Order: sequence, then structure tokens, then C-alpha cells
Amino acid sequence: MISQETIDAIFQATHIEDVIEDYVHLTKRGVNLKGLCPFHDEKTPSFTVSPARNIYKCFGCGKGGNAINFLMEHEGLSYPEVLRHLAAKYNIPIQEDQMPEEYEAEKKERDSLYLINEYARDFYRNQLFHTDLGKSIGLSYFKERGLLRKTMDAFELGFATTSRDELTKSAVQAGYKIDFLRQLGLTTEHDRDFFFNRVMFPIHNISGKVVAFAGRHLTTDKKSPKYINSKESEIYHKSKVLYGMHLAKQAIRKEDFCLLVEGYTDVLSLHQSGIENVVASSGTSLTVDQVKLVKRYTRQIKILYDGDAAGVKAALRGIDLVLEQDLNVELVLLPEGEDPDSYIKKVGVTAFREYLQNESTDFILFKTNLILKEAGNDPVKKAGLIKDIIESLSHIPDPIKRSVYTRQCAELLKVDESILVAETNKLLSKNLRDARINQLREGREDHELQQQILEKERQKAVSEKWSEEKTLTDEFQDRDIVRILILYGDRSIEIEQEKMSISQYILSEIQEALSFFDNSLYAKVVTEYGIALANGNQLHTDYFIRHQDQAISQLAIEICSSPYELSENWQKMWDIRLETQPMPEENEVQDAIQALYRFLLKKYQKMSEENLKQIKTYQNDGDEESLLKHLQVQGMLVEQRNKIAAKLNTVIL
Ligand code: GTP
Ligand code: MN
Repeated sequence: MISQETIDAIFQATHIEDVIEDYVHLTKRGVNLKGLCPFHDEKTPSFTVSPARNIYKCFGCGKGGNAINFLMEHEGLSYPEVLRHLAAKYNIPIQEDQMPEEYEAEKKERDSLYLINEYARDFYRNQLFHTDLGKSIGLSYFKERGLLRKTMDAFELGFATTSRDELTKSAVQAGYKIDFLRQLGLTTEHDRDFFFNRVMFPIHNISGKVVAFAGRHLTTDKKSPKYINSKESEIYHKSKVLYGMHLAKQAIRKEDFCLLVEGYTDVLSLHQSGIENVVASSGTSLTVDQVKLVKRYTRQIKILYDGDAAGVKAALRGIDLVLEQDLNVELVLLPEGEDPDSYIKKVGVTAFREYLQNESTDFILFKTNLILKEAGNDPVKKAGLIKDIIESLSHIPDPIKRSVYTRQCAELLKVDESILVAETNKLLSKNLRDARINQLREGREDHELQQQILEKERQKAVSEKWSEEKTLTDEFQDRDIVRILILYGDRSIEIEQEKMSISQYILSEIQEALSFFDNSLYAKVVTEYGIALANGNQLHTDYFIRHQDQAISQLAIEICSSPYELSENWQKMWDIRLETQPMPEENEVQDAIQALYRFLLKKYQKMSEENLKQIKTYQNDGDEESLLKHLQVQGMLVEQRNKIAAKLNTVIL
């Protein structure tokens, strides 16, 4: 692992404008620099770089970050990869913390596996272009399919000869371990080549390293499978790879959608025609990890199906998991008998793009229509169909989107919308329960699962609020506390003649309300700050901007770069006269105290609302004792609330 000292040195040395200038032409505007945003298409520059804060922000598409985030996003690199890149750029020697031995060994092994795949890739390419057999069989096949040399080069296509052990022999002679060749599946247990007499498609990870191969036979022999693939290995997990992603990622971001096709050759063909935002799932149905990969670059996915309906129905089943990741899914069905490769050759790229535009149908509506057609007038089938749709609806996390779809589906299915809503809500609760039970059963405490559960709970809470038509959440006040902590938690303040830091003051005051944080991200920031304080440390703005957790780092950058604003509803809700301070940074103490009071006021309001609900139930049940207790509590809560409101008024005036 790269040592903390090295990381600090890298951050010290890195000037955001240097890094970004490698990719974007920047011109000076006052204290900032401006350029055309590399993350979306624009004609006038709204991409702003602030050398003073060492951050960038695009006021067009909202993307923002530090130099590290920029490279991660733009180049699709991982955090350590970016650090290494910057260390090289600024000539900073990398110190590695001592790693446990087995980890070192693992890393060495992985590196060797990549090297061998590179060797094999070069071997196959050489066969394709420089041997008689390669040229007469492999190359002529690719040419026949209309592939240009530049496409073959971009995708590093190759050819495996008819010999049964040439690759293995030559690799061993070059000093590569046979064990590793076997692990990668390039060599069989009898020390022969796994791929022979096939054209070869290297499969890359997102940073362009070869992790596996697919080989297509060129005979019409029906007995052997058309494609064979490397087996899974330390560096190849089939479910986590999308074919072509390393070449598609920039275009996916630019176009803001990802085109998903079935075949390797479809990717090659579309790419060559200038449609570069295309990847293939390689025949298997889509996995969660693949969806997450896409999600790094866009939230829109367009799935292209060959024009035979049988495959489509099977594929539809997998799509609920795409919805679950909160992606927008559209489907495009190609005309009967066509695949993307054949169709683009037939109609050309312009007509192909038009087809994509005109024929895209939203997933849920597509599914509804498809099964509706199939069910015809059969009431049993139709009932099954409704169940199916409800299942899909329950996987849409965004309540607003969900309610729009619910309405459309209700219309198509000719059922009452309220029935769909009620049934979907039941399923939402069930999904949540299932996740909890799974966690208990597996005794798992793993972070990702907990995050999922938190997320599901949040979705459910939001959904319930939504259905009660209550749209006012505490989002604003919670964020405000986090804003203060990130911006000037480390500054000092004097309260009743006692000196302390703003963070200490805020955290001690909101102790009781902590469990009321709705947003898990905000809760994380507050908790982390609390732990730091308990250890006698302060956290600074930069700490959050550089945070390894990308969500926190993004939030910090958002907060640093967005103008200060107050909730519009605030004044109306509380009947409080509020003069927004034009320059809160210049009056951080006031700003902090006001934010704190607003936060507390909101929480007390919430507590008293909840208490009031209970009072009503006790009234109905005739439970005198409990009623009395809760009435007393209500009195206290209201009193507290009024006190805070009064304080808030005096602070403001
Ligand atoms: P061409 O026939 O050259 O156009 O290839 P294609 O990529 O269009 O193949 P096709 O449409 O038949 O299949 C789509 C995808 O399914 C392929 O790209 C493969 O990923 C996968 N596939 C097809 N046949 C096989 C097979 O026999 N074995 C395996 N493992 N995958 C296959
Ligand atoms: Mn094909």
C-alpha cells in the first residue's frame, strides 16, 4: 500500500490546473480558469478550475472534484492507480507500507498473469498479421467481415494457429511459468494450447489490460462451440467484465448513455462506424457487477436485442437488477433476423442512429406491452402479468419515477392505479425484510450489504413519505450541519466564556438528535467527525475533499463550490424573519449557530409530531396513564422548540 506520507506528498505537489490542462484547454478568467467540460458536450465553457481551492466544477453538468477524482472519472483509473500516475508526473518516489507477505506474493502473481496475457496477445497478433496461415485464414476472415486494420488494432485482434502447442512452448521458452499459463487457461493440463485455429478476441478490463480471451472458430463444424473463452482466474471474473468497456468509457460519458449488445462482432462493427459507446455482455445475461460498471459512466442504458422475440423474453428477466441500480433502461428491438452488425451494414450509421432514437422503448412499458400481447384475453395469464410488472416496479428506487411508471402501467393494463401502488408497497417492505433476514442468516456484517439495507430503508421511508404526500424532509437542515462541519468545524468559537471548536460545540449540541439523520452520507460525516474529536483530532476541509470515500469527497466539493442558500420554505414554515447573510464565510460563528438552531428546531418539531401521533393512539385506546406521560413529554418538547425558535430570532436580528 502507498504510505500516507507519499499520499500527502502527492497532494502537496499536485496542482489541479496542471493535471487538467493535459485534457482540457483552459483560459484564465479572474482567479479561476475556464474550459469546455470534458464530461458533457458544450459550446460555451462552464467548466471551472479553481487553483486556490485545488478543485474543479462544471456549472453545466454539475460534475466537480479534485485532481484525483478528475483522473479517476476521466481515465477510469482506481485511486491507487491515480496516485501512481501523479507520483510519476511529479517525480515523487513512492514509499510502500510494509504489506503482509502473502499479499505481496498475491500481487506478484497477478502481475505475472497480466504479463502472460500480454505475451499471448502479442503472440496471436503476430500470427494474424505475419504468418501465412494467419493471413490466409484469420485476416481474410476479418476483412470479409468488413473490419479495417485500425479496428483490428484497437481491439488487438489475433489468430491462434492450427498447431496444438506453439503458444505454450514459446511462452515457456520466454521464461513464463507453465503453472501460470494453466491458471489462465491458455494451456491445458496436458500442456497443449487451449486455443487453436480460431480468431482471437482479447477481453480487457476497464484500464485496458488483457484479462482473458475469446476465440471464434471459422469452420462450419456444428459440433464445436462457435466461441470458447478463457476460464475464470485471479484476474478474470466473467461477471465483472463488459467487452469493449476500455474503449467505450469516454464515449459513454460524452453521449451519456451506454449501448449494450450481445456479440463481440457487434461491438467491433458499431465502433468502426463511429458508434463508440458500445459494450457487450458476451452472451451471458447481465450481472449486478456489470451494471455497476456502467453506472460509473452513465445512468442510461440502451439494450439492443436481435430481432427474435424468444431471446428477448428470457433477457427481460435479468433487467430488474438494472432497475434496482437506479439506471434508466431502454430497449431496442432490431428487425427480424438482424443483429447490430448486420443491420448497421445494411442501413448505414445515420439510419442506424435514427432507428435507435425512434425505436427505444422504456423497459417497463416494453415489458408490459410484450406480455400483454402474449396474454391476450386469458385472465389467468393477465393476473400473472400484473404480478410480474409489480415485481419490476418494486425494483425502481426512485419514488417519483416509480409513481410515473405505475400510472402508465395501470393505464396499459386497465387496472386501478391504487391497486398497483398498494401491491408495490407490499413488495417493497418484503424486499427490505428479505435483505434483513439474509443478513441475519449469513451472520454477515459486510459493509456493502449494510449499505444496501440502509439504502432500502431509505427508499422505503422516502416512498412512505411520498405516498403520504409529505415532501418536506430534514434534508436541508441535516446538510447544513454537515456544511458547517466541513467548512469550519476546526475553527474556534467562544460559548459562555468557554473556548472550543465549532465542531465540538455542534456535536455536543446535536448528540440526542443524531439518530434522526435521514441521509446515511451525512450521518457518516458526522460520525467520522465525532470519532476524530474523541481522539483529540480536528478534521479540515481538505481532509473531506481528499476523502477516499468518493461520495464524501464529492459532497465536500459540492459544499465548497455551491453558493450559500437557504431553504425557500424556511421562512414560511416557521414564520421567522430571516435575512440571508450574503457572506456566511465571513461570519462563520453566526452561520454555525444559526445552522445549529435550525437543525434543532426541525428535530424538535419532528419529535413533537411523532409524540402527537402517539398521543392520538392512546386517546383512542383509552390508555390514560400513557396518555398523561406523553402529554407531559409534549409540553417539554414544545417548550424546547419555542426556546430555540426564540434564540434563533435573537441571533438573526
Ligand atoms: P458472429 O457469428 O461472428 O457474428 O459472432 P457474434 O458475436 O455476433 O455471435 P452471436 O450473435 O452468435 O452470439 C452473440 C454472443 O454470444 C457472442 O458474441 C458470444 O459472446 C456468445 N456466444 C455465441 N455462441 C457462443 C458459444 O458457442 N459459446 C460461448 N461461450 N459463447 C457464445
Ligand atoms: Mn453476429
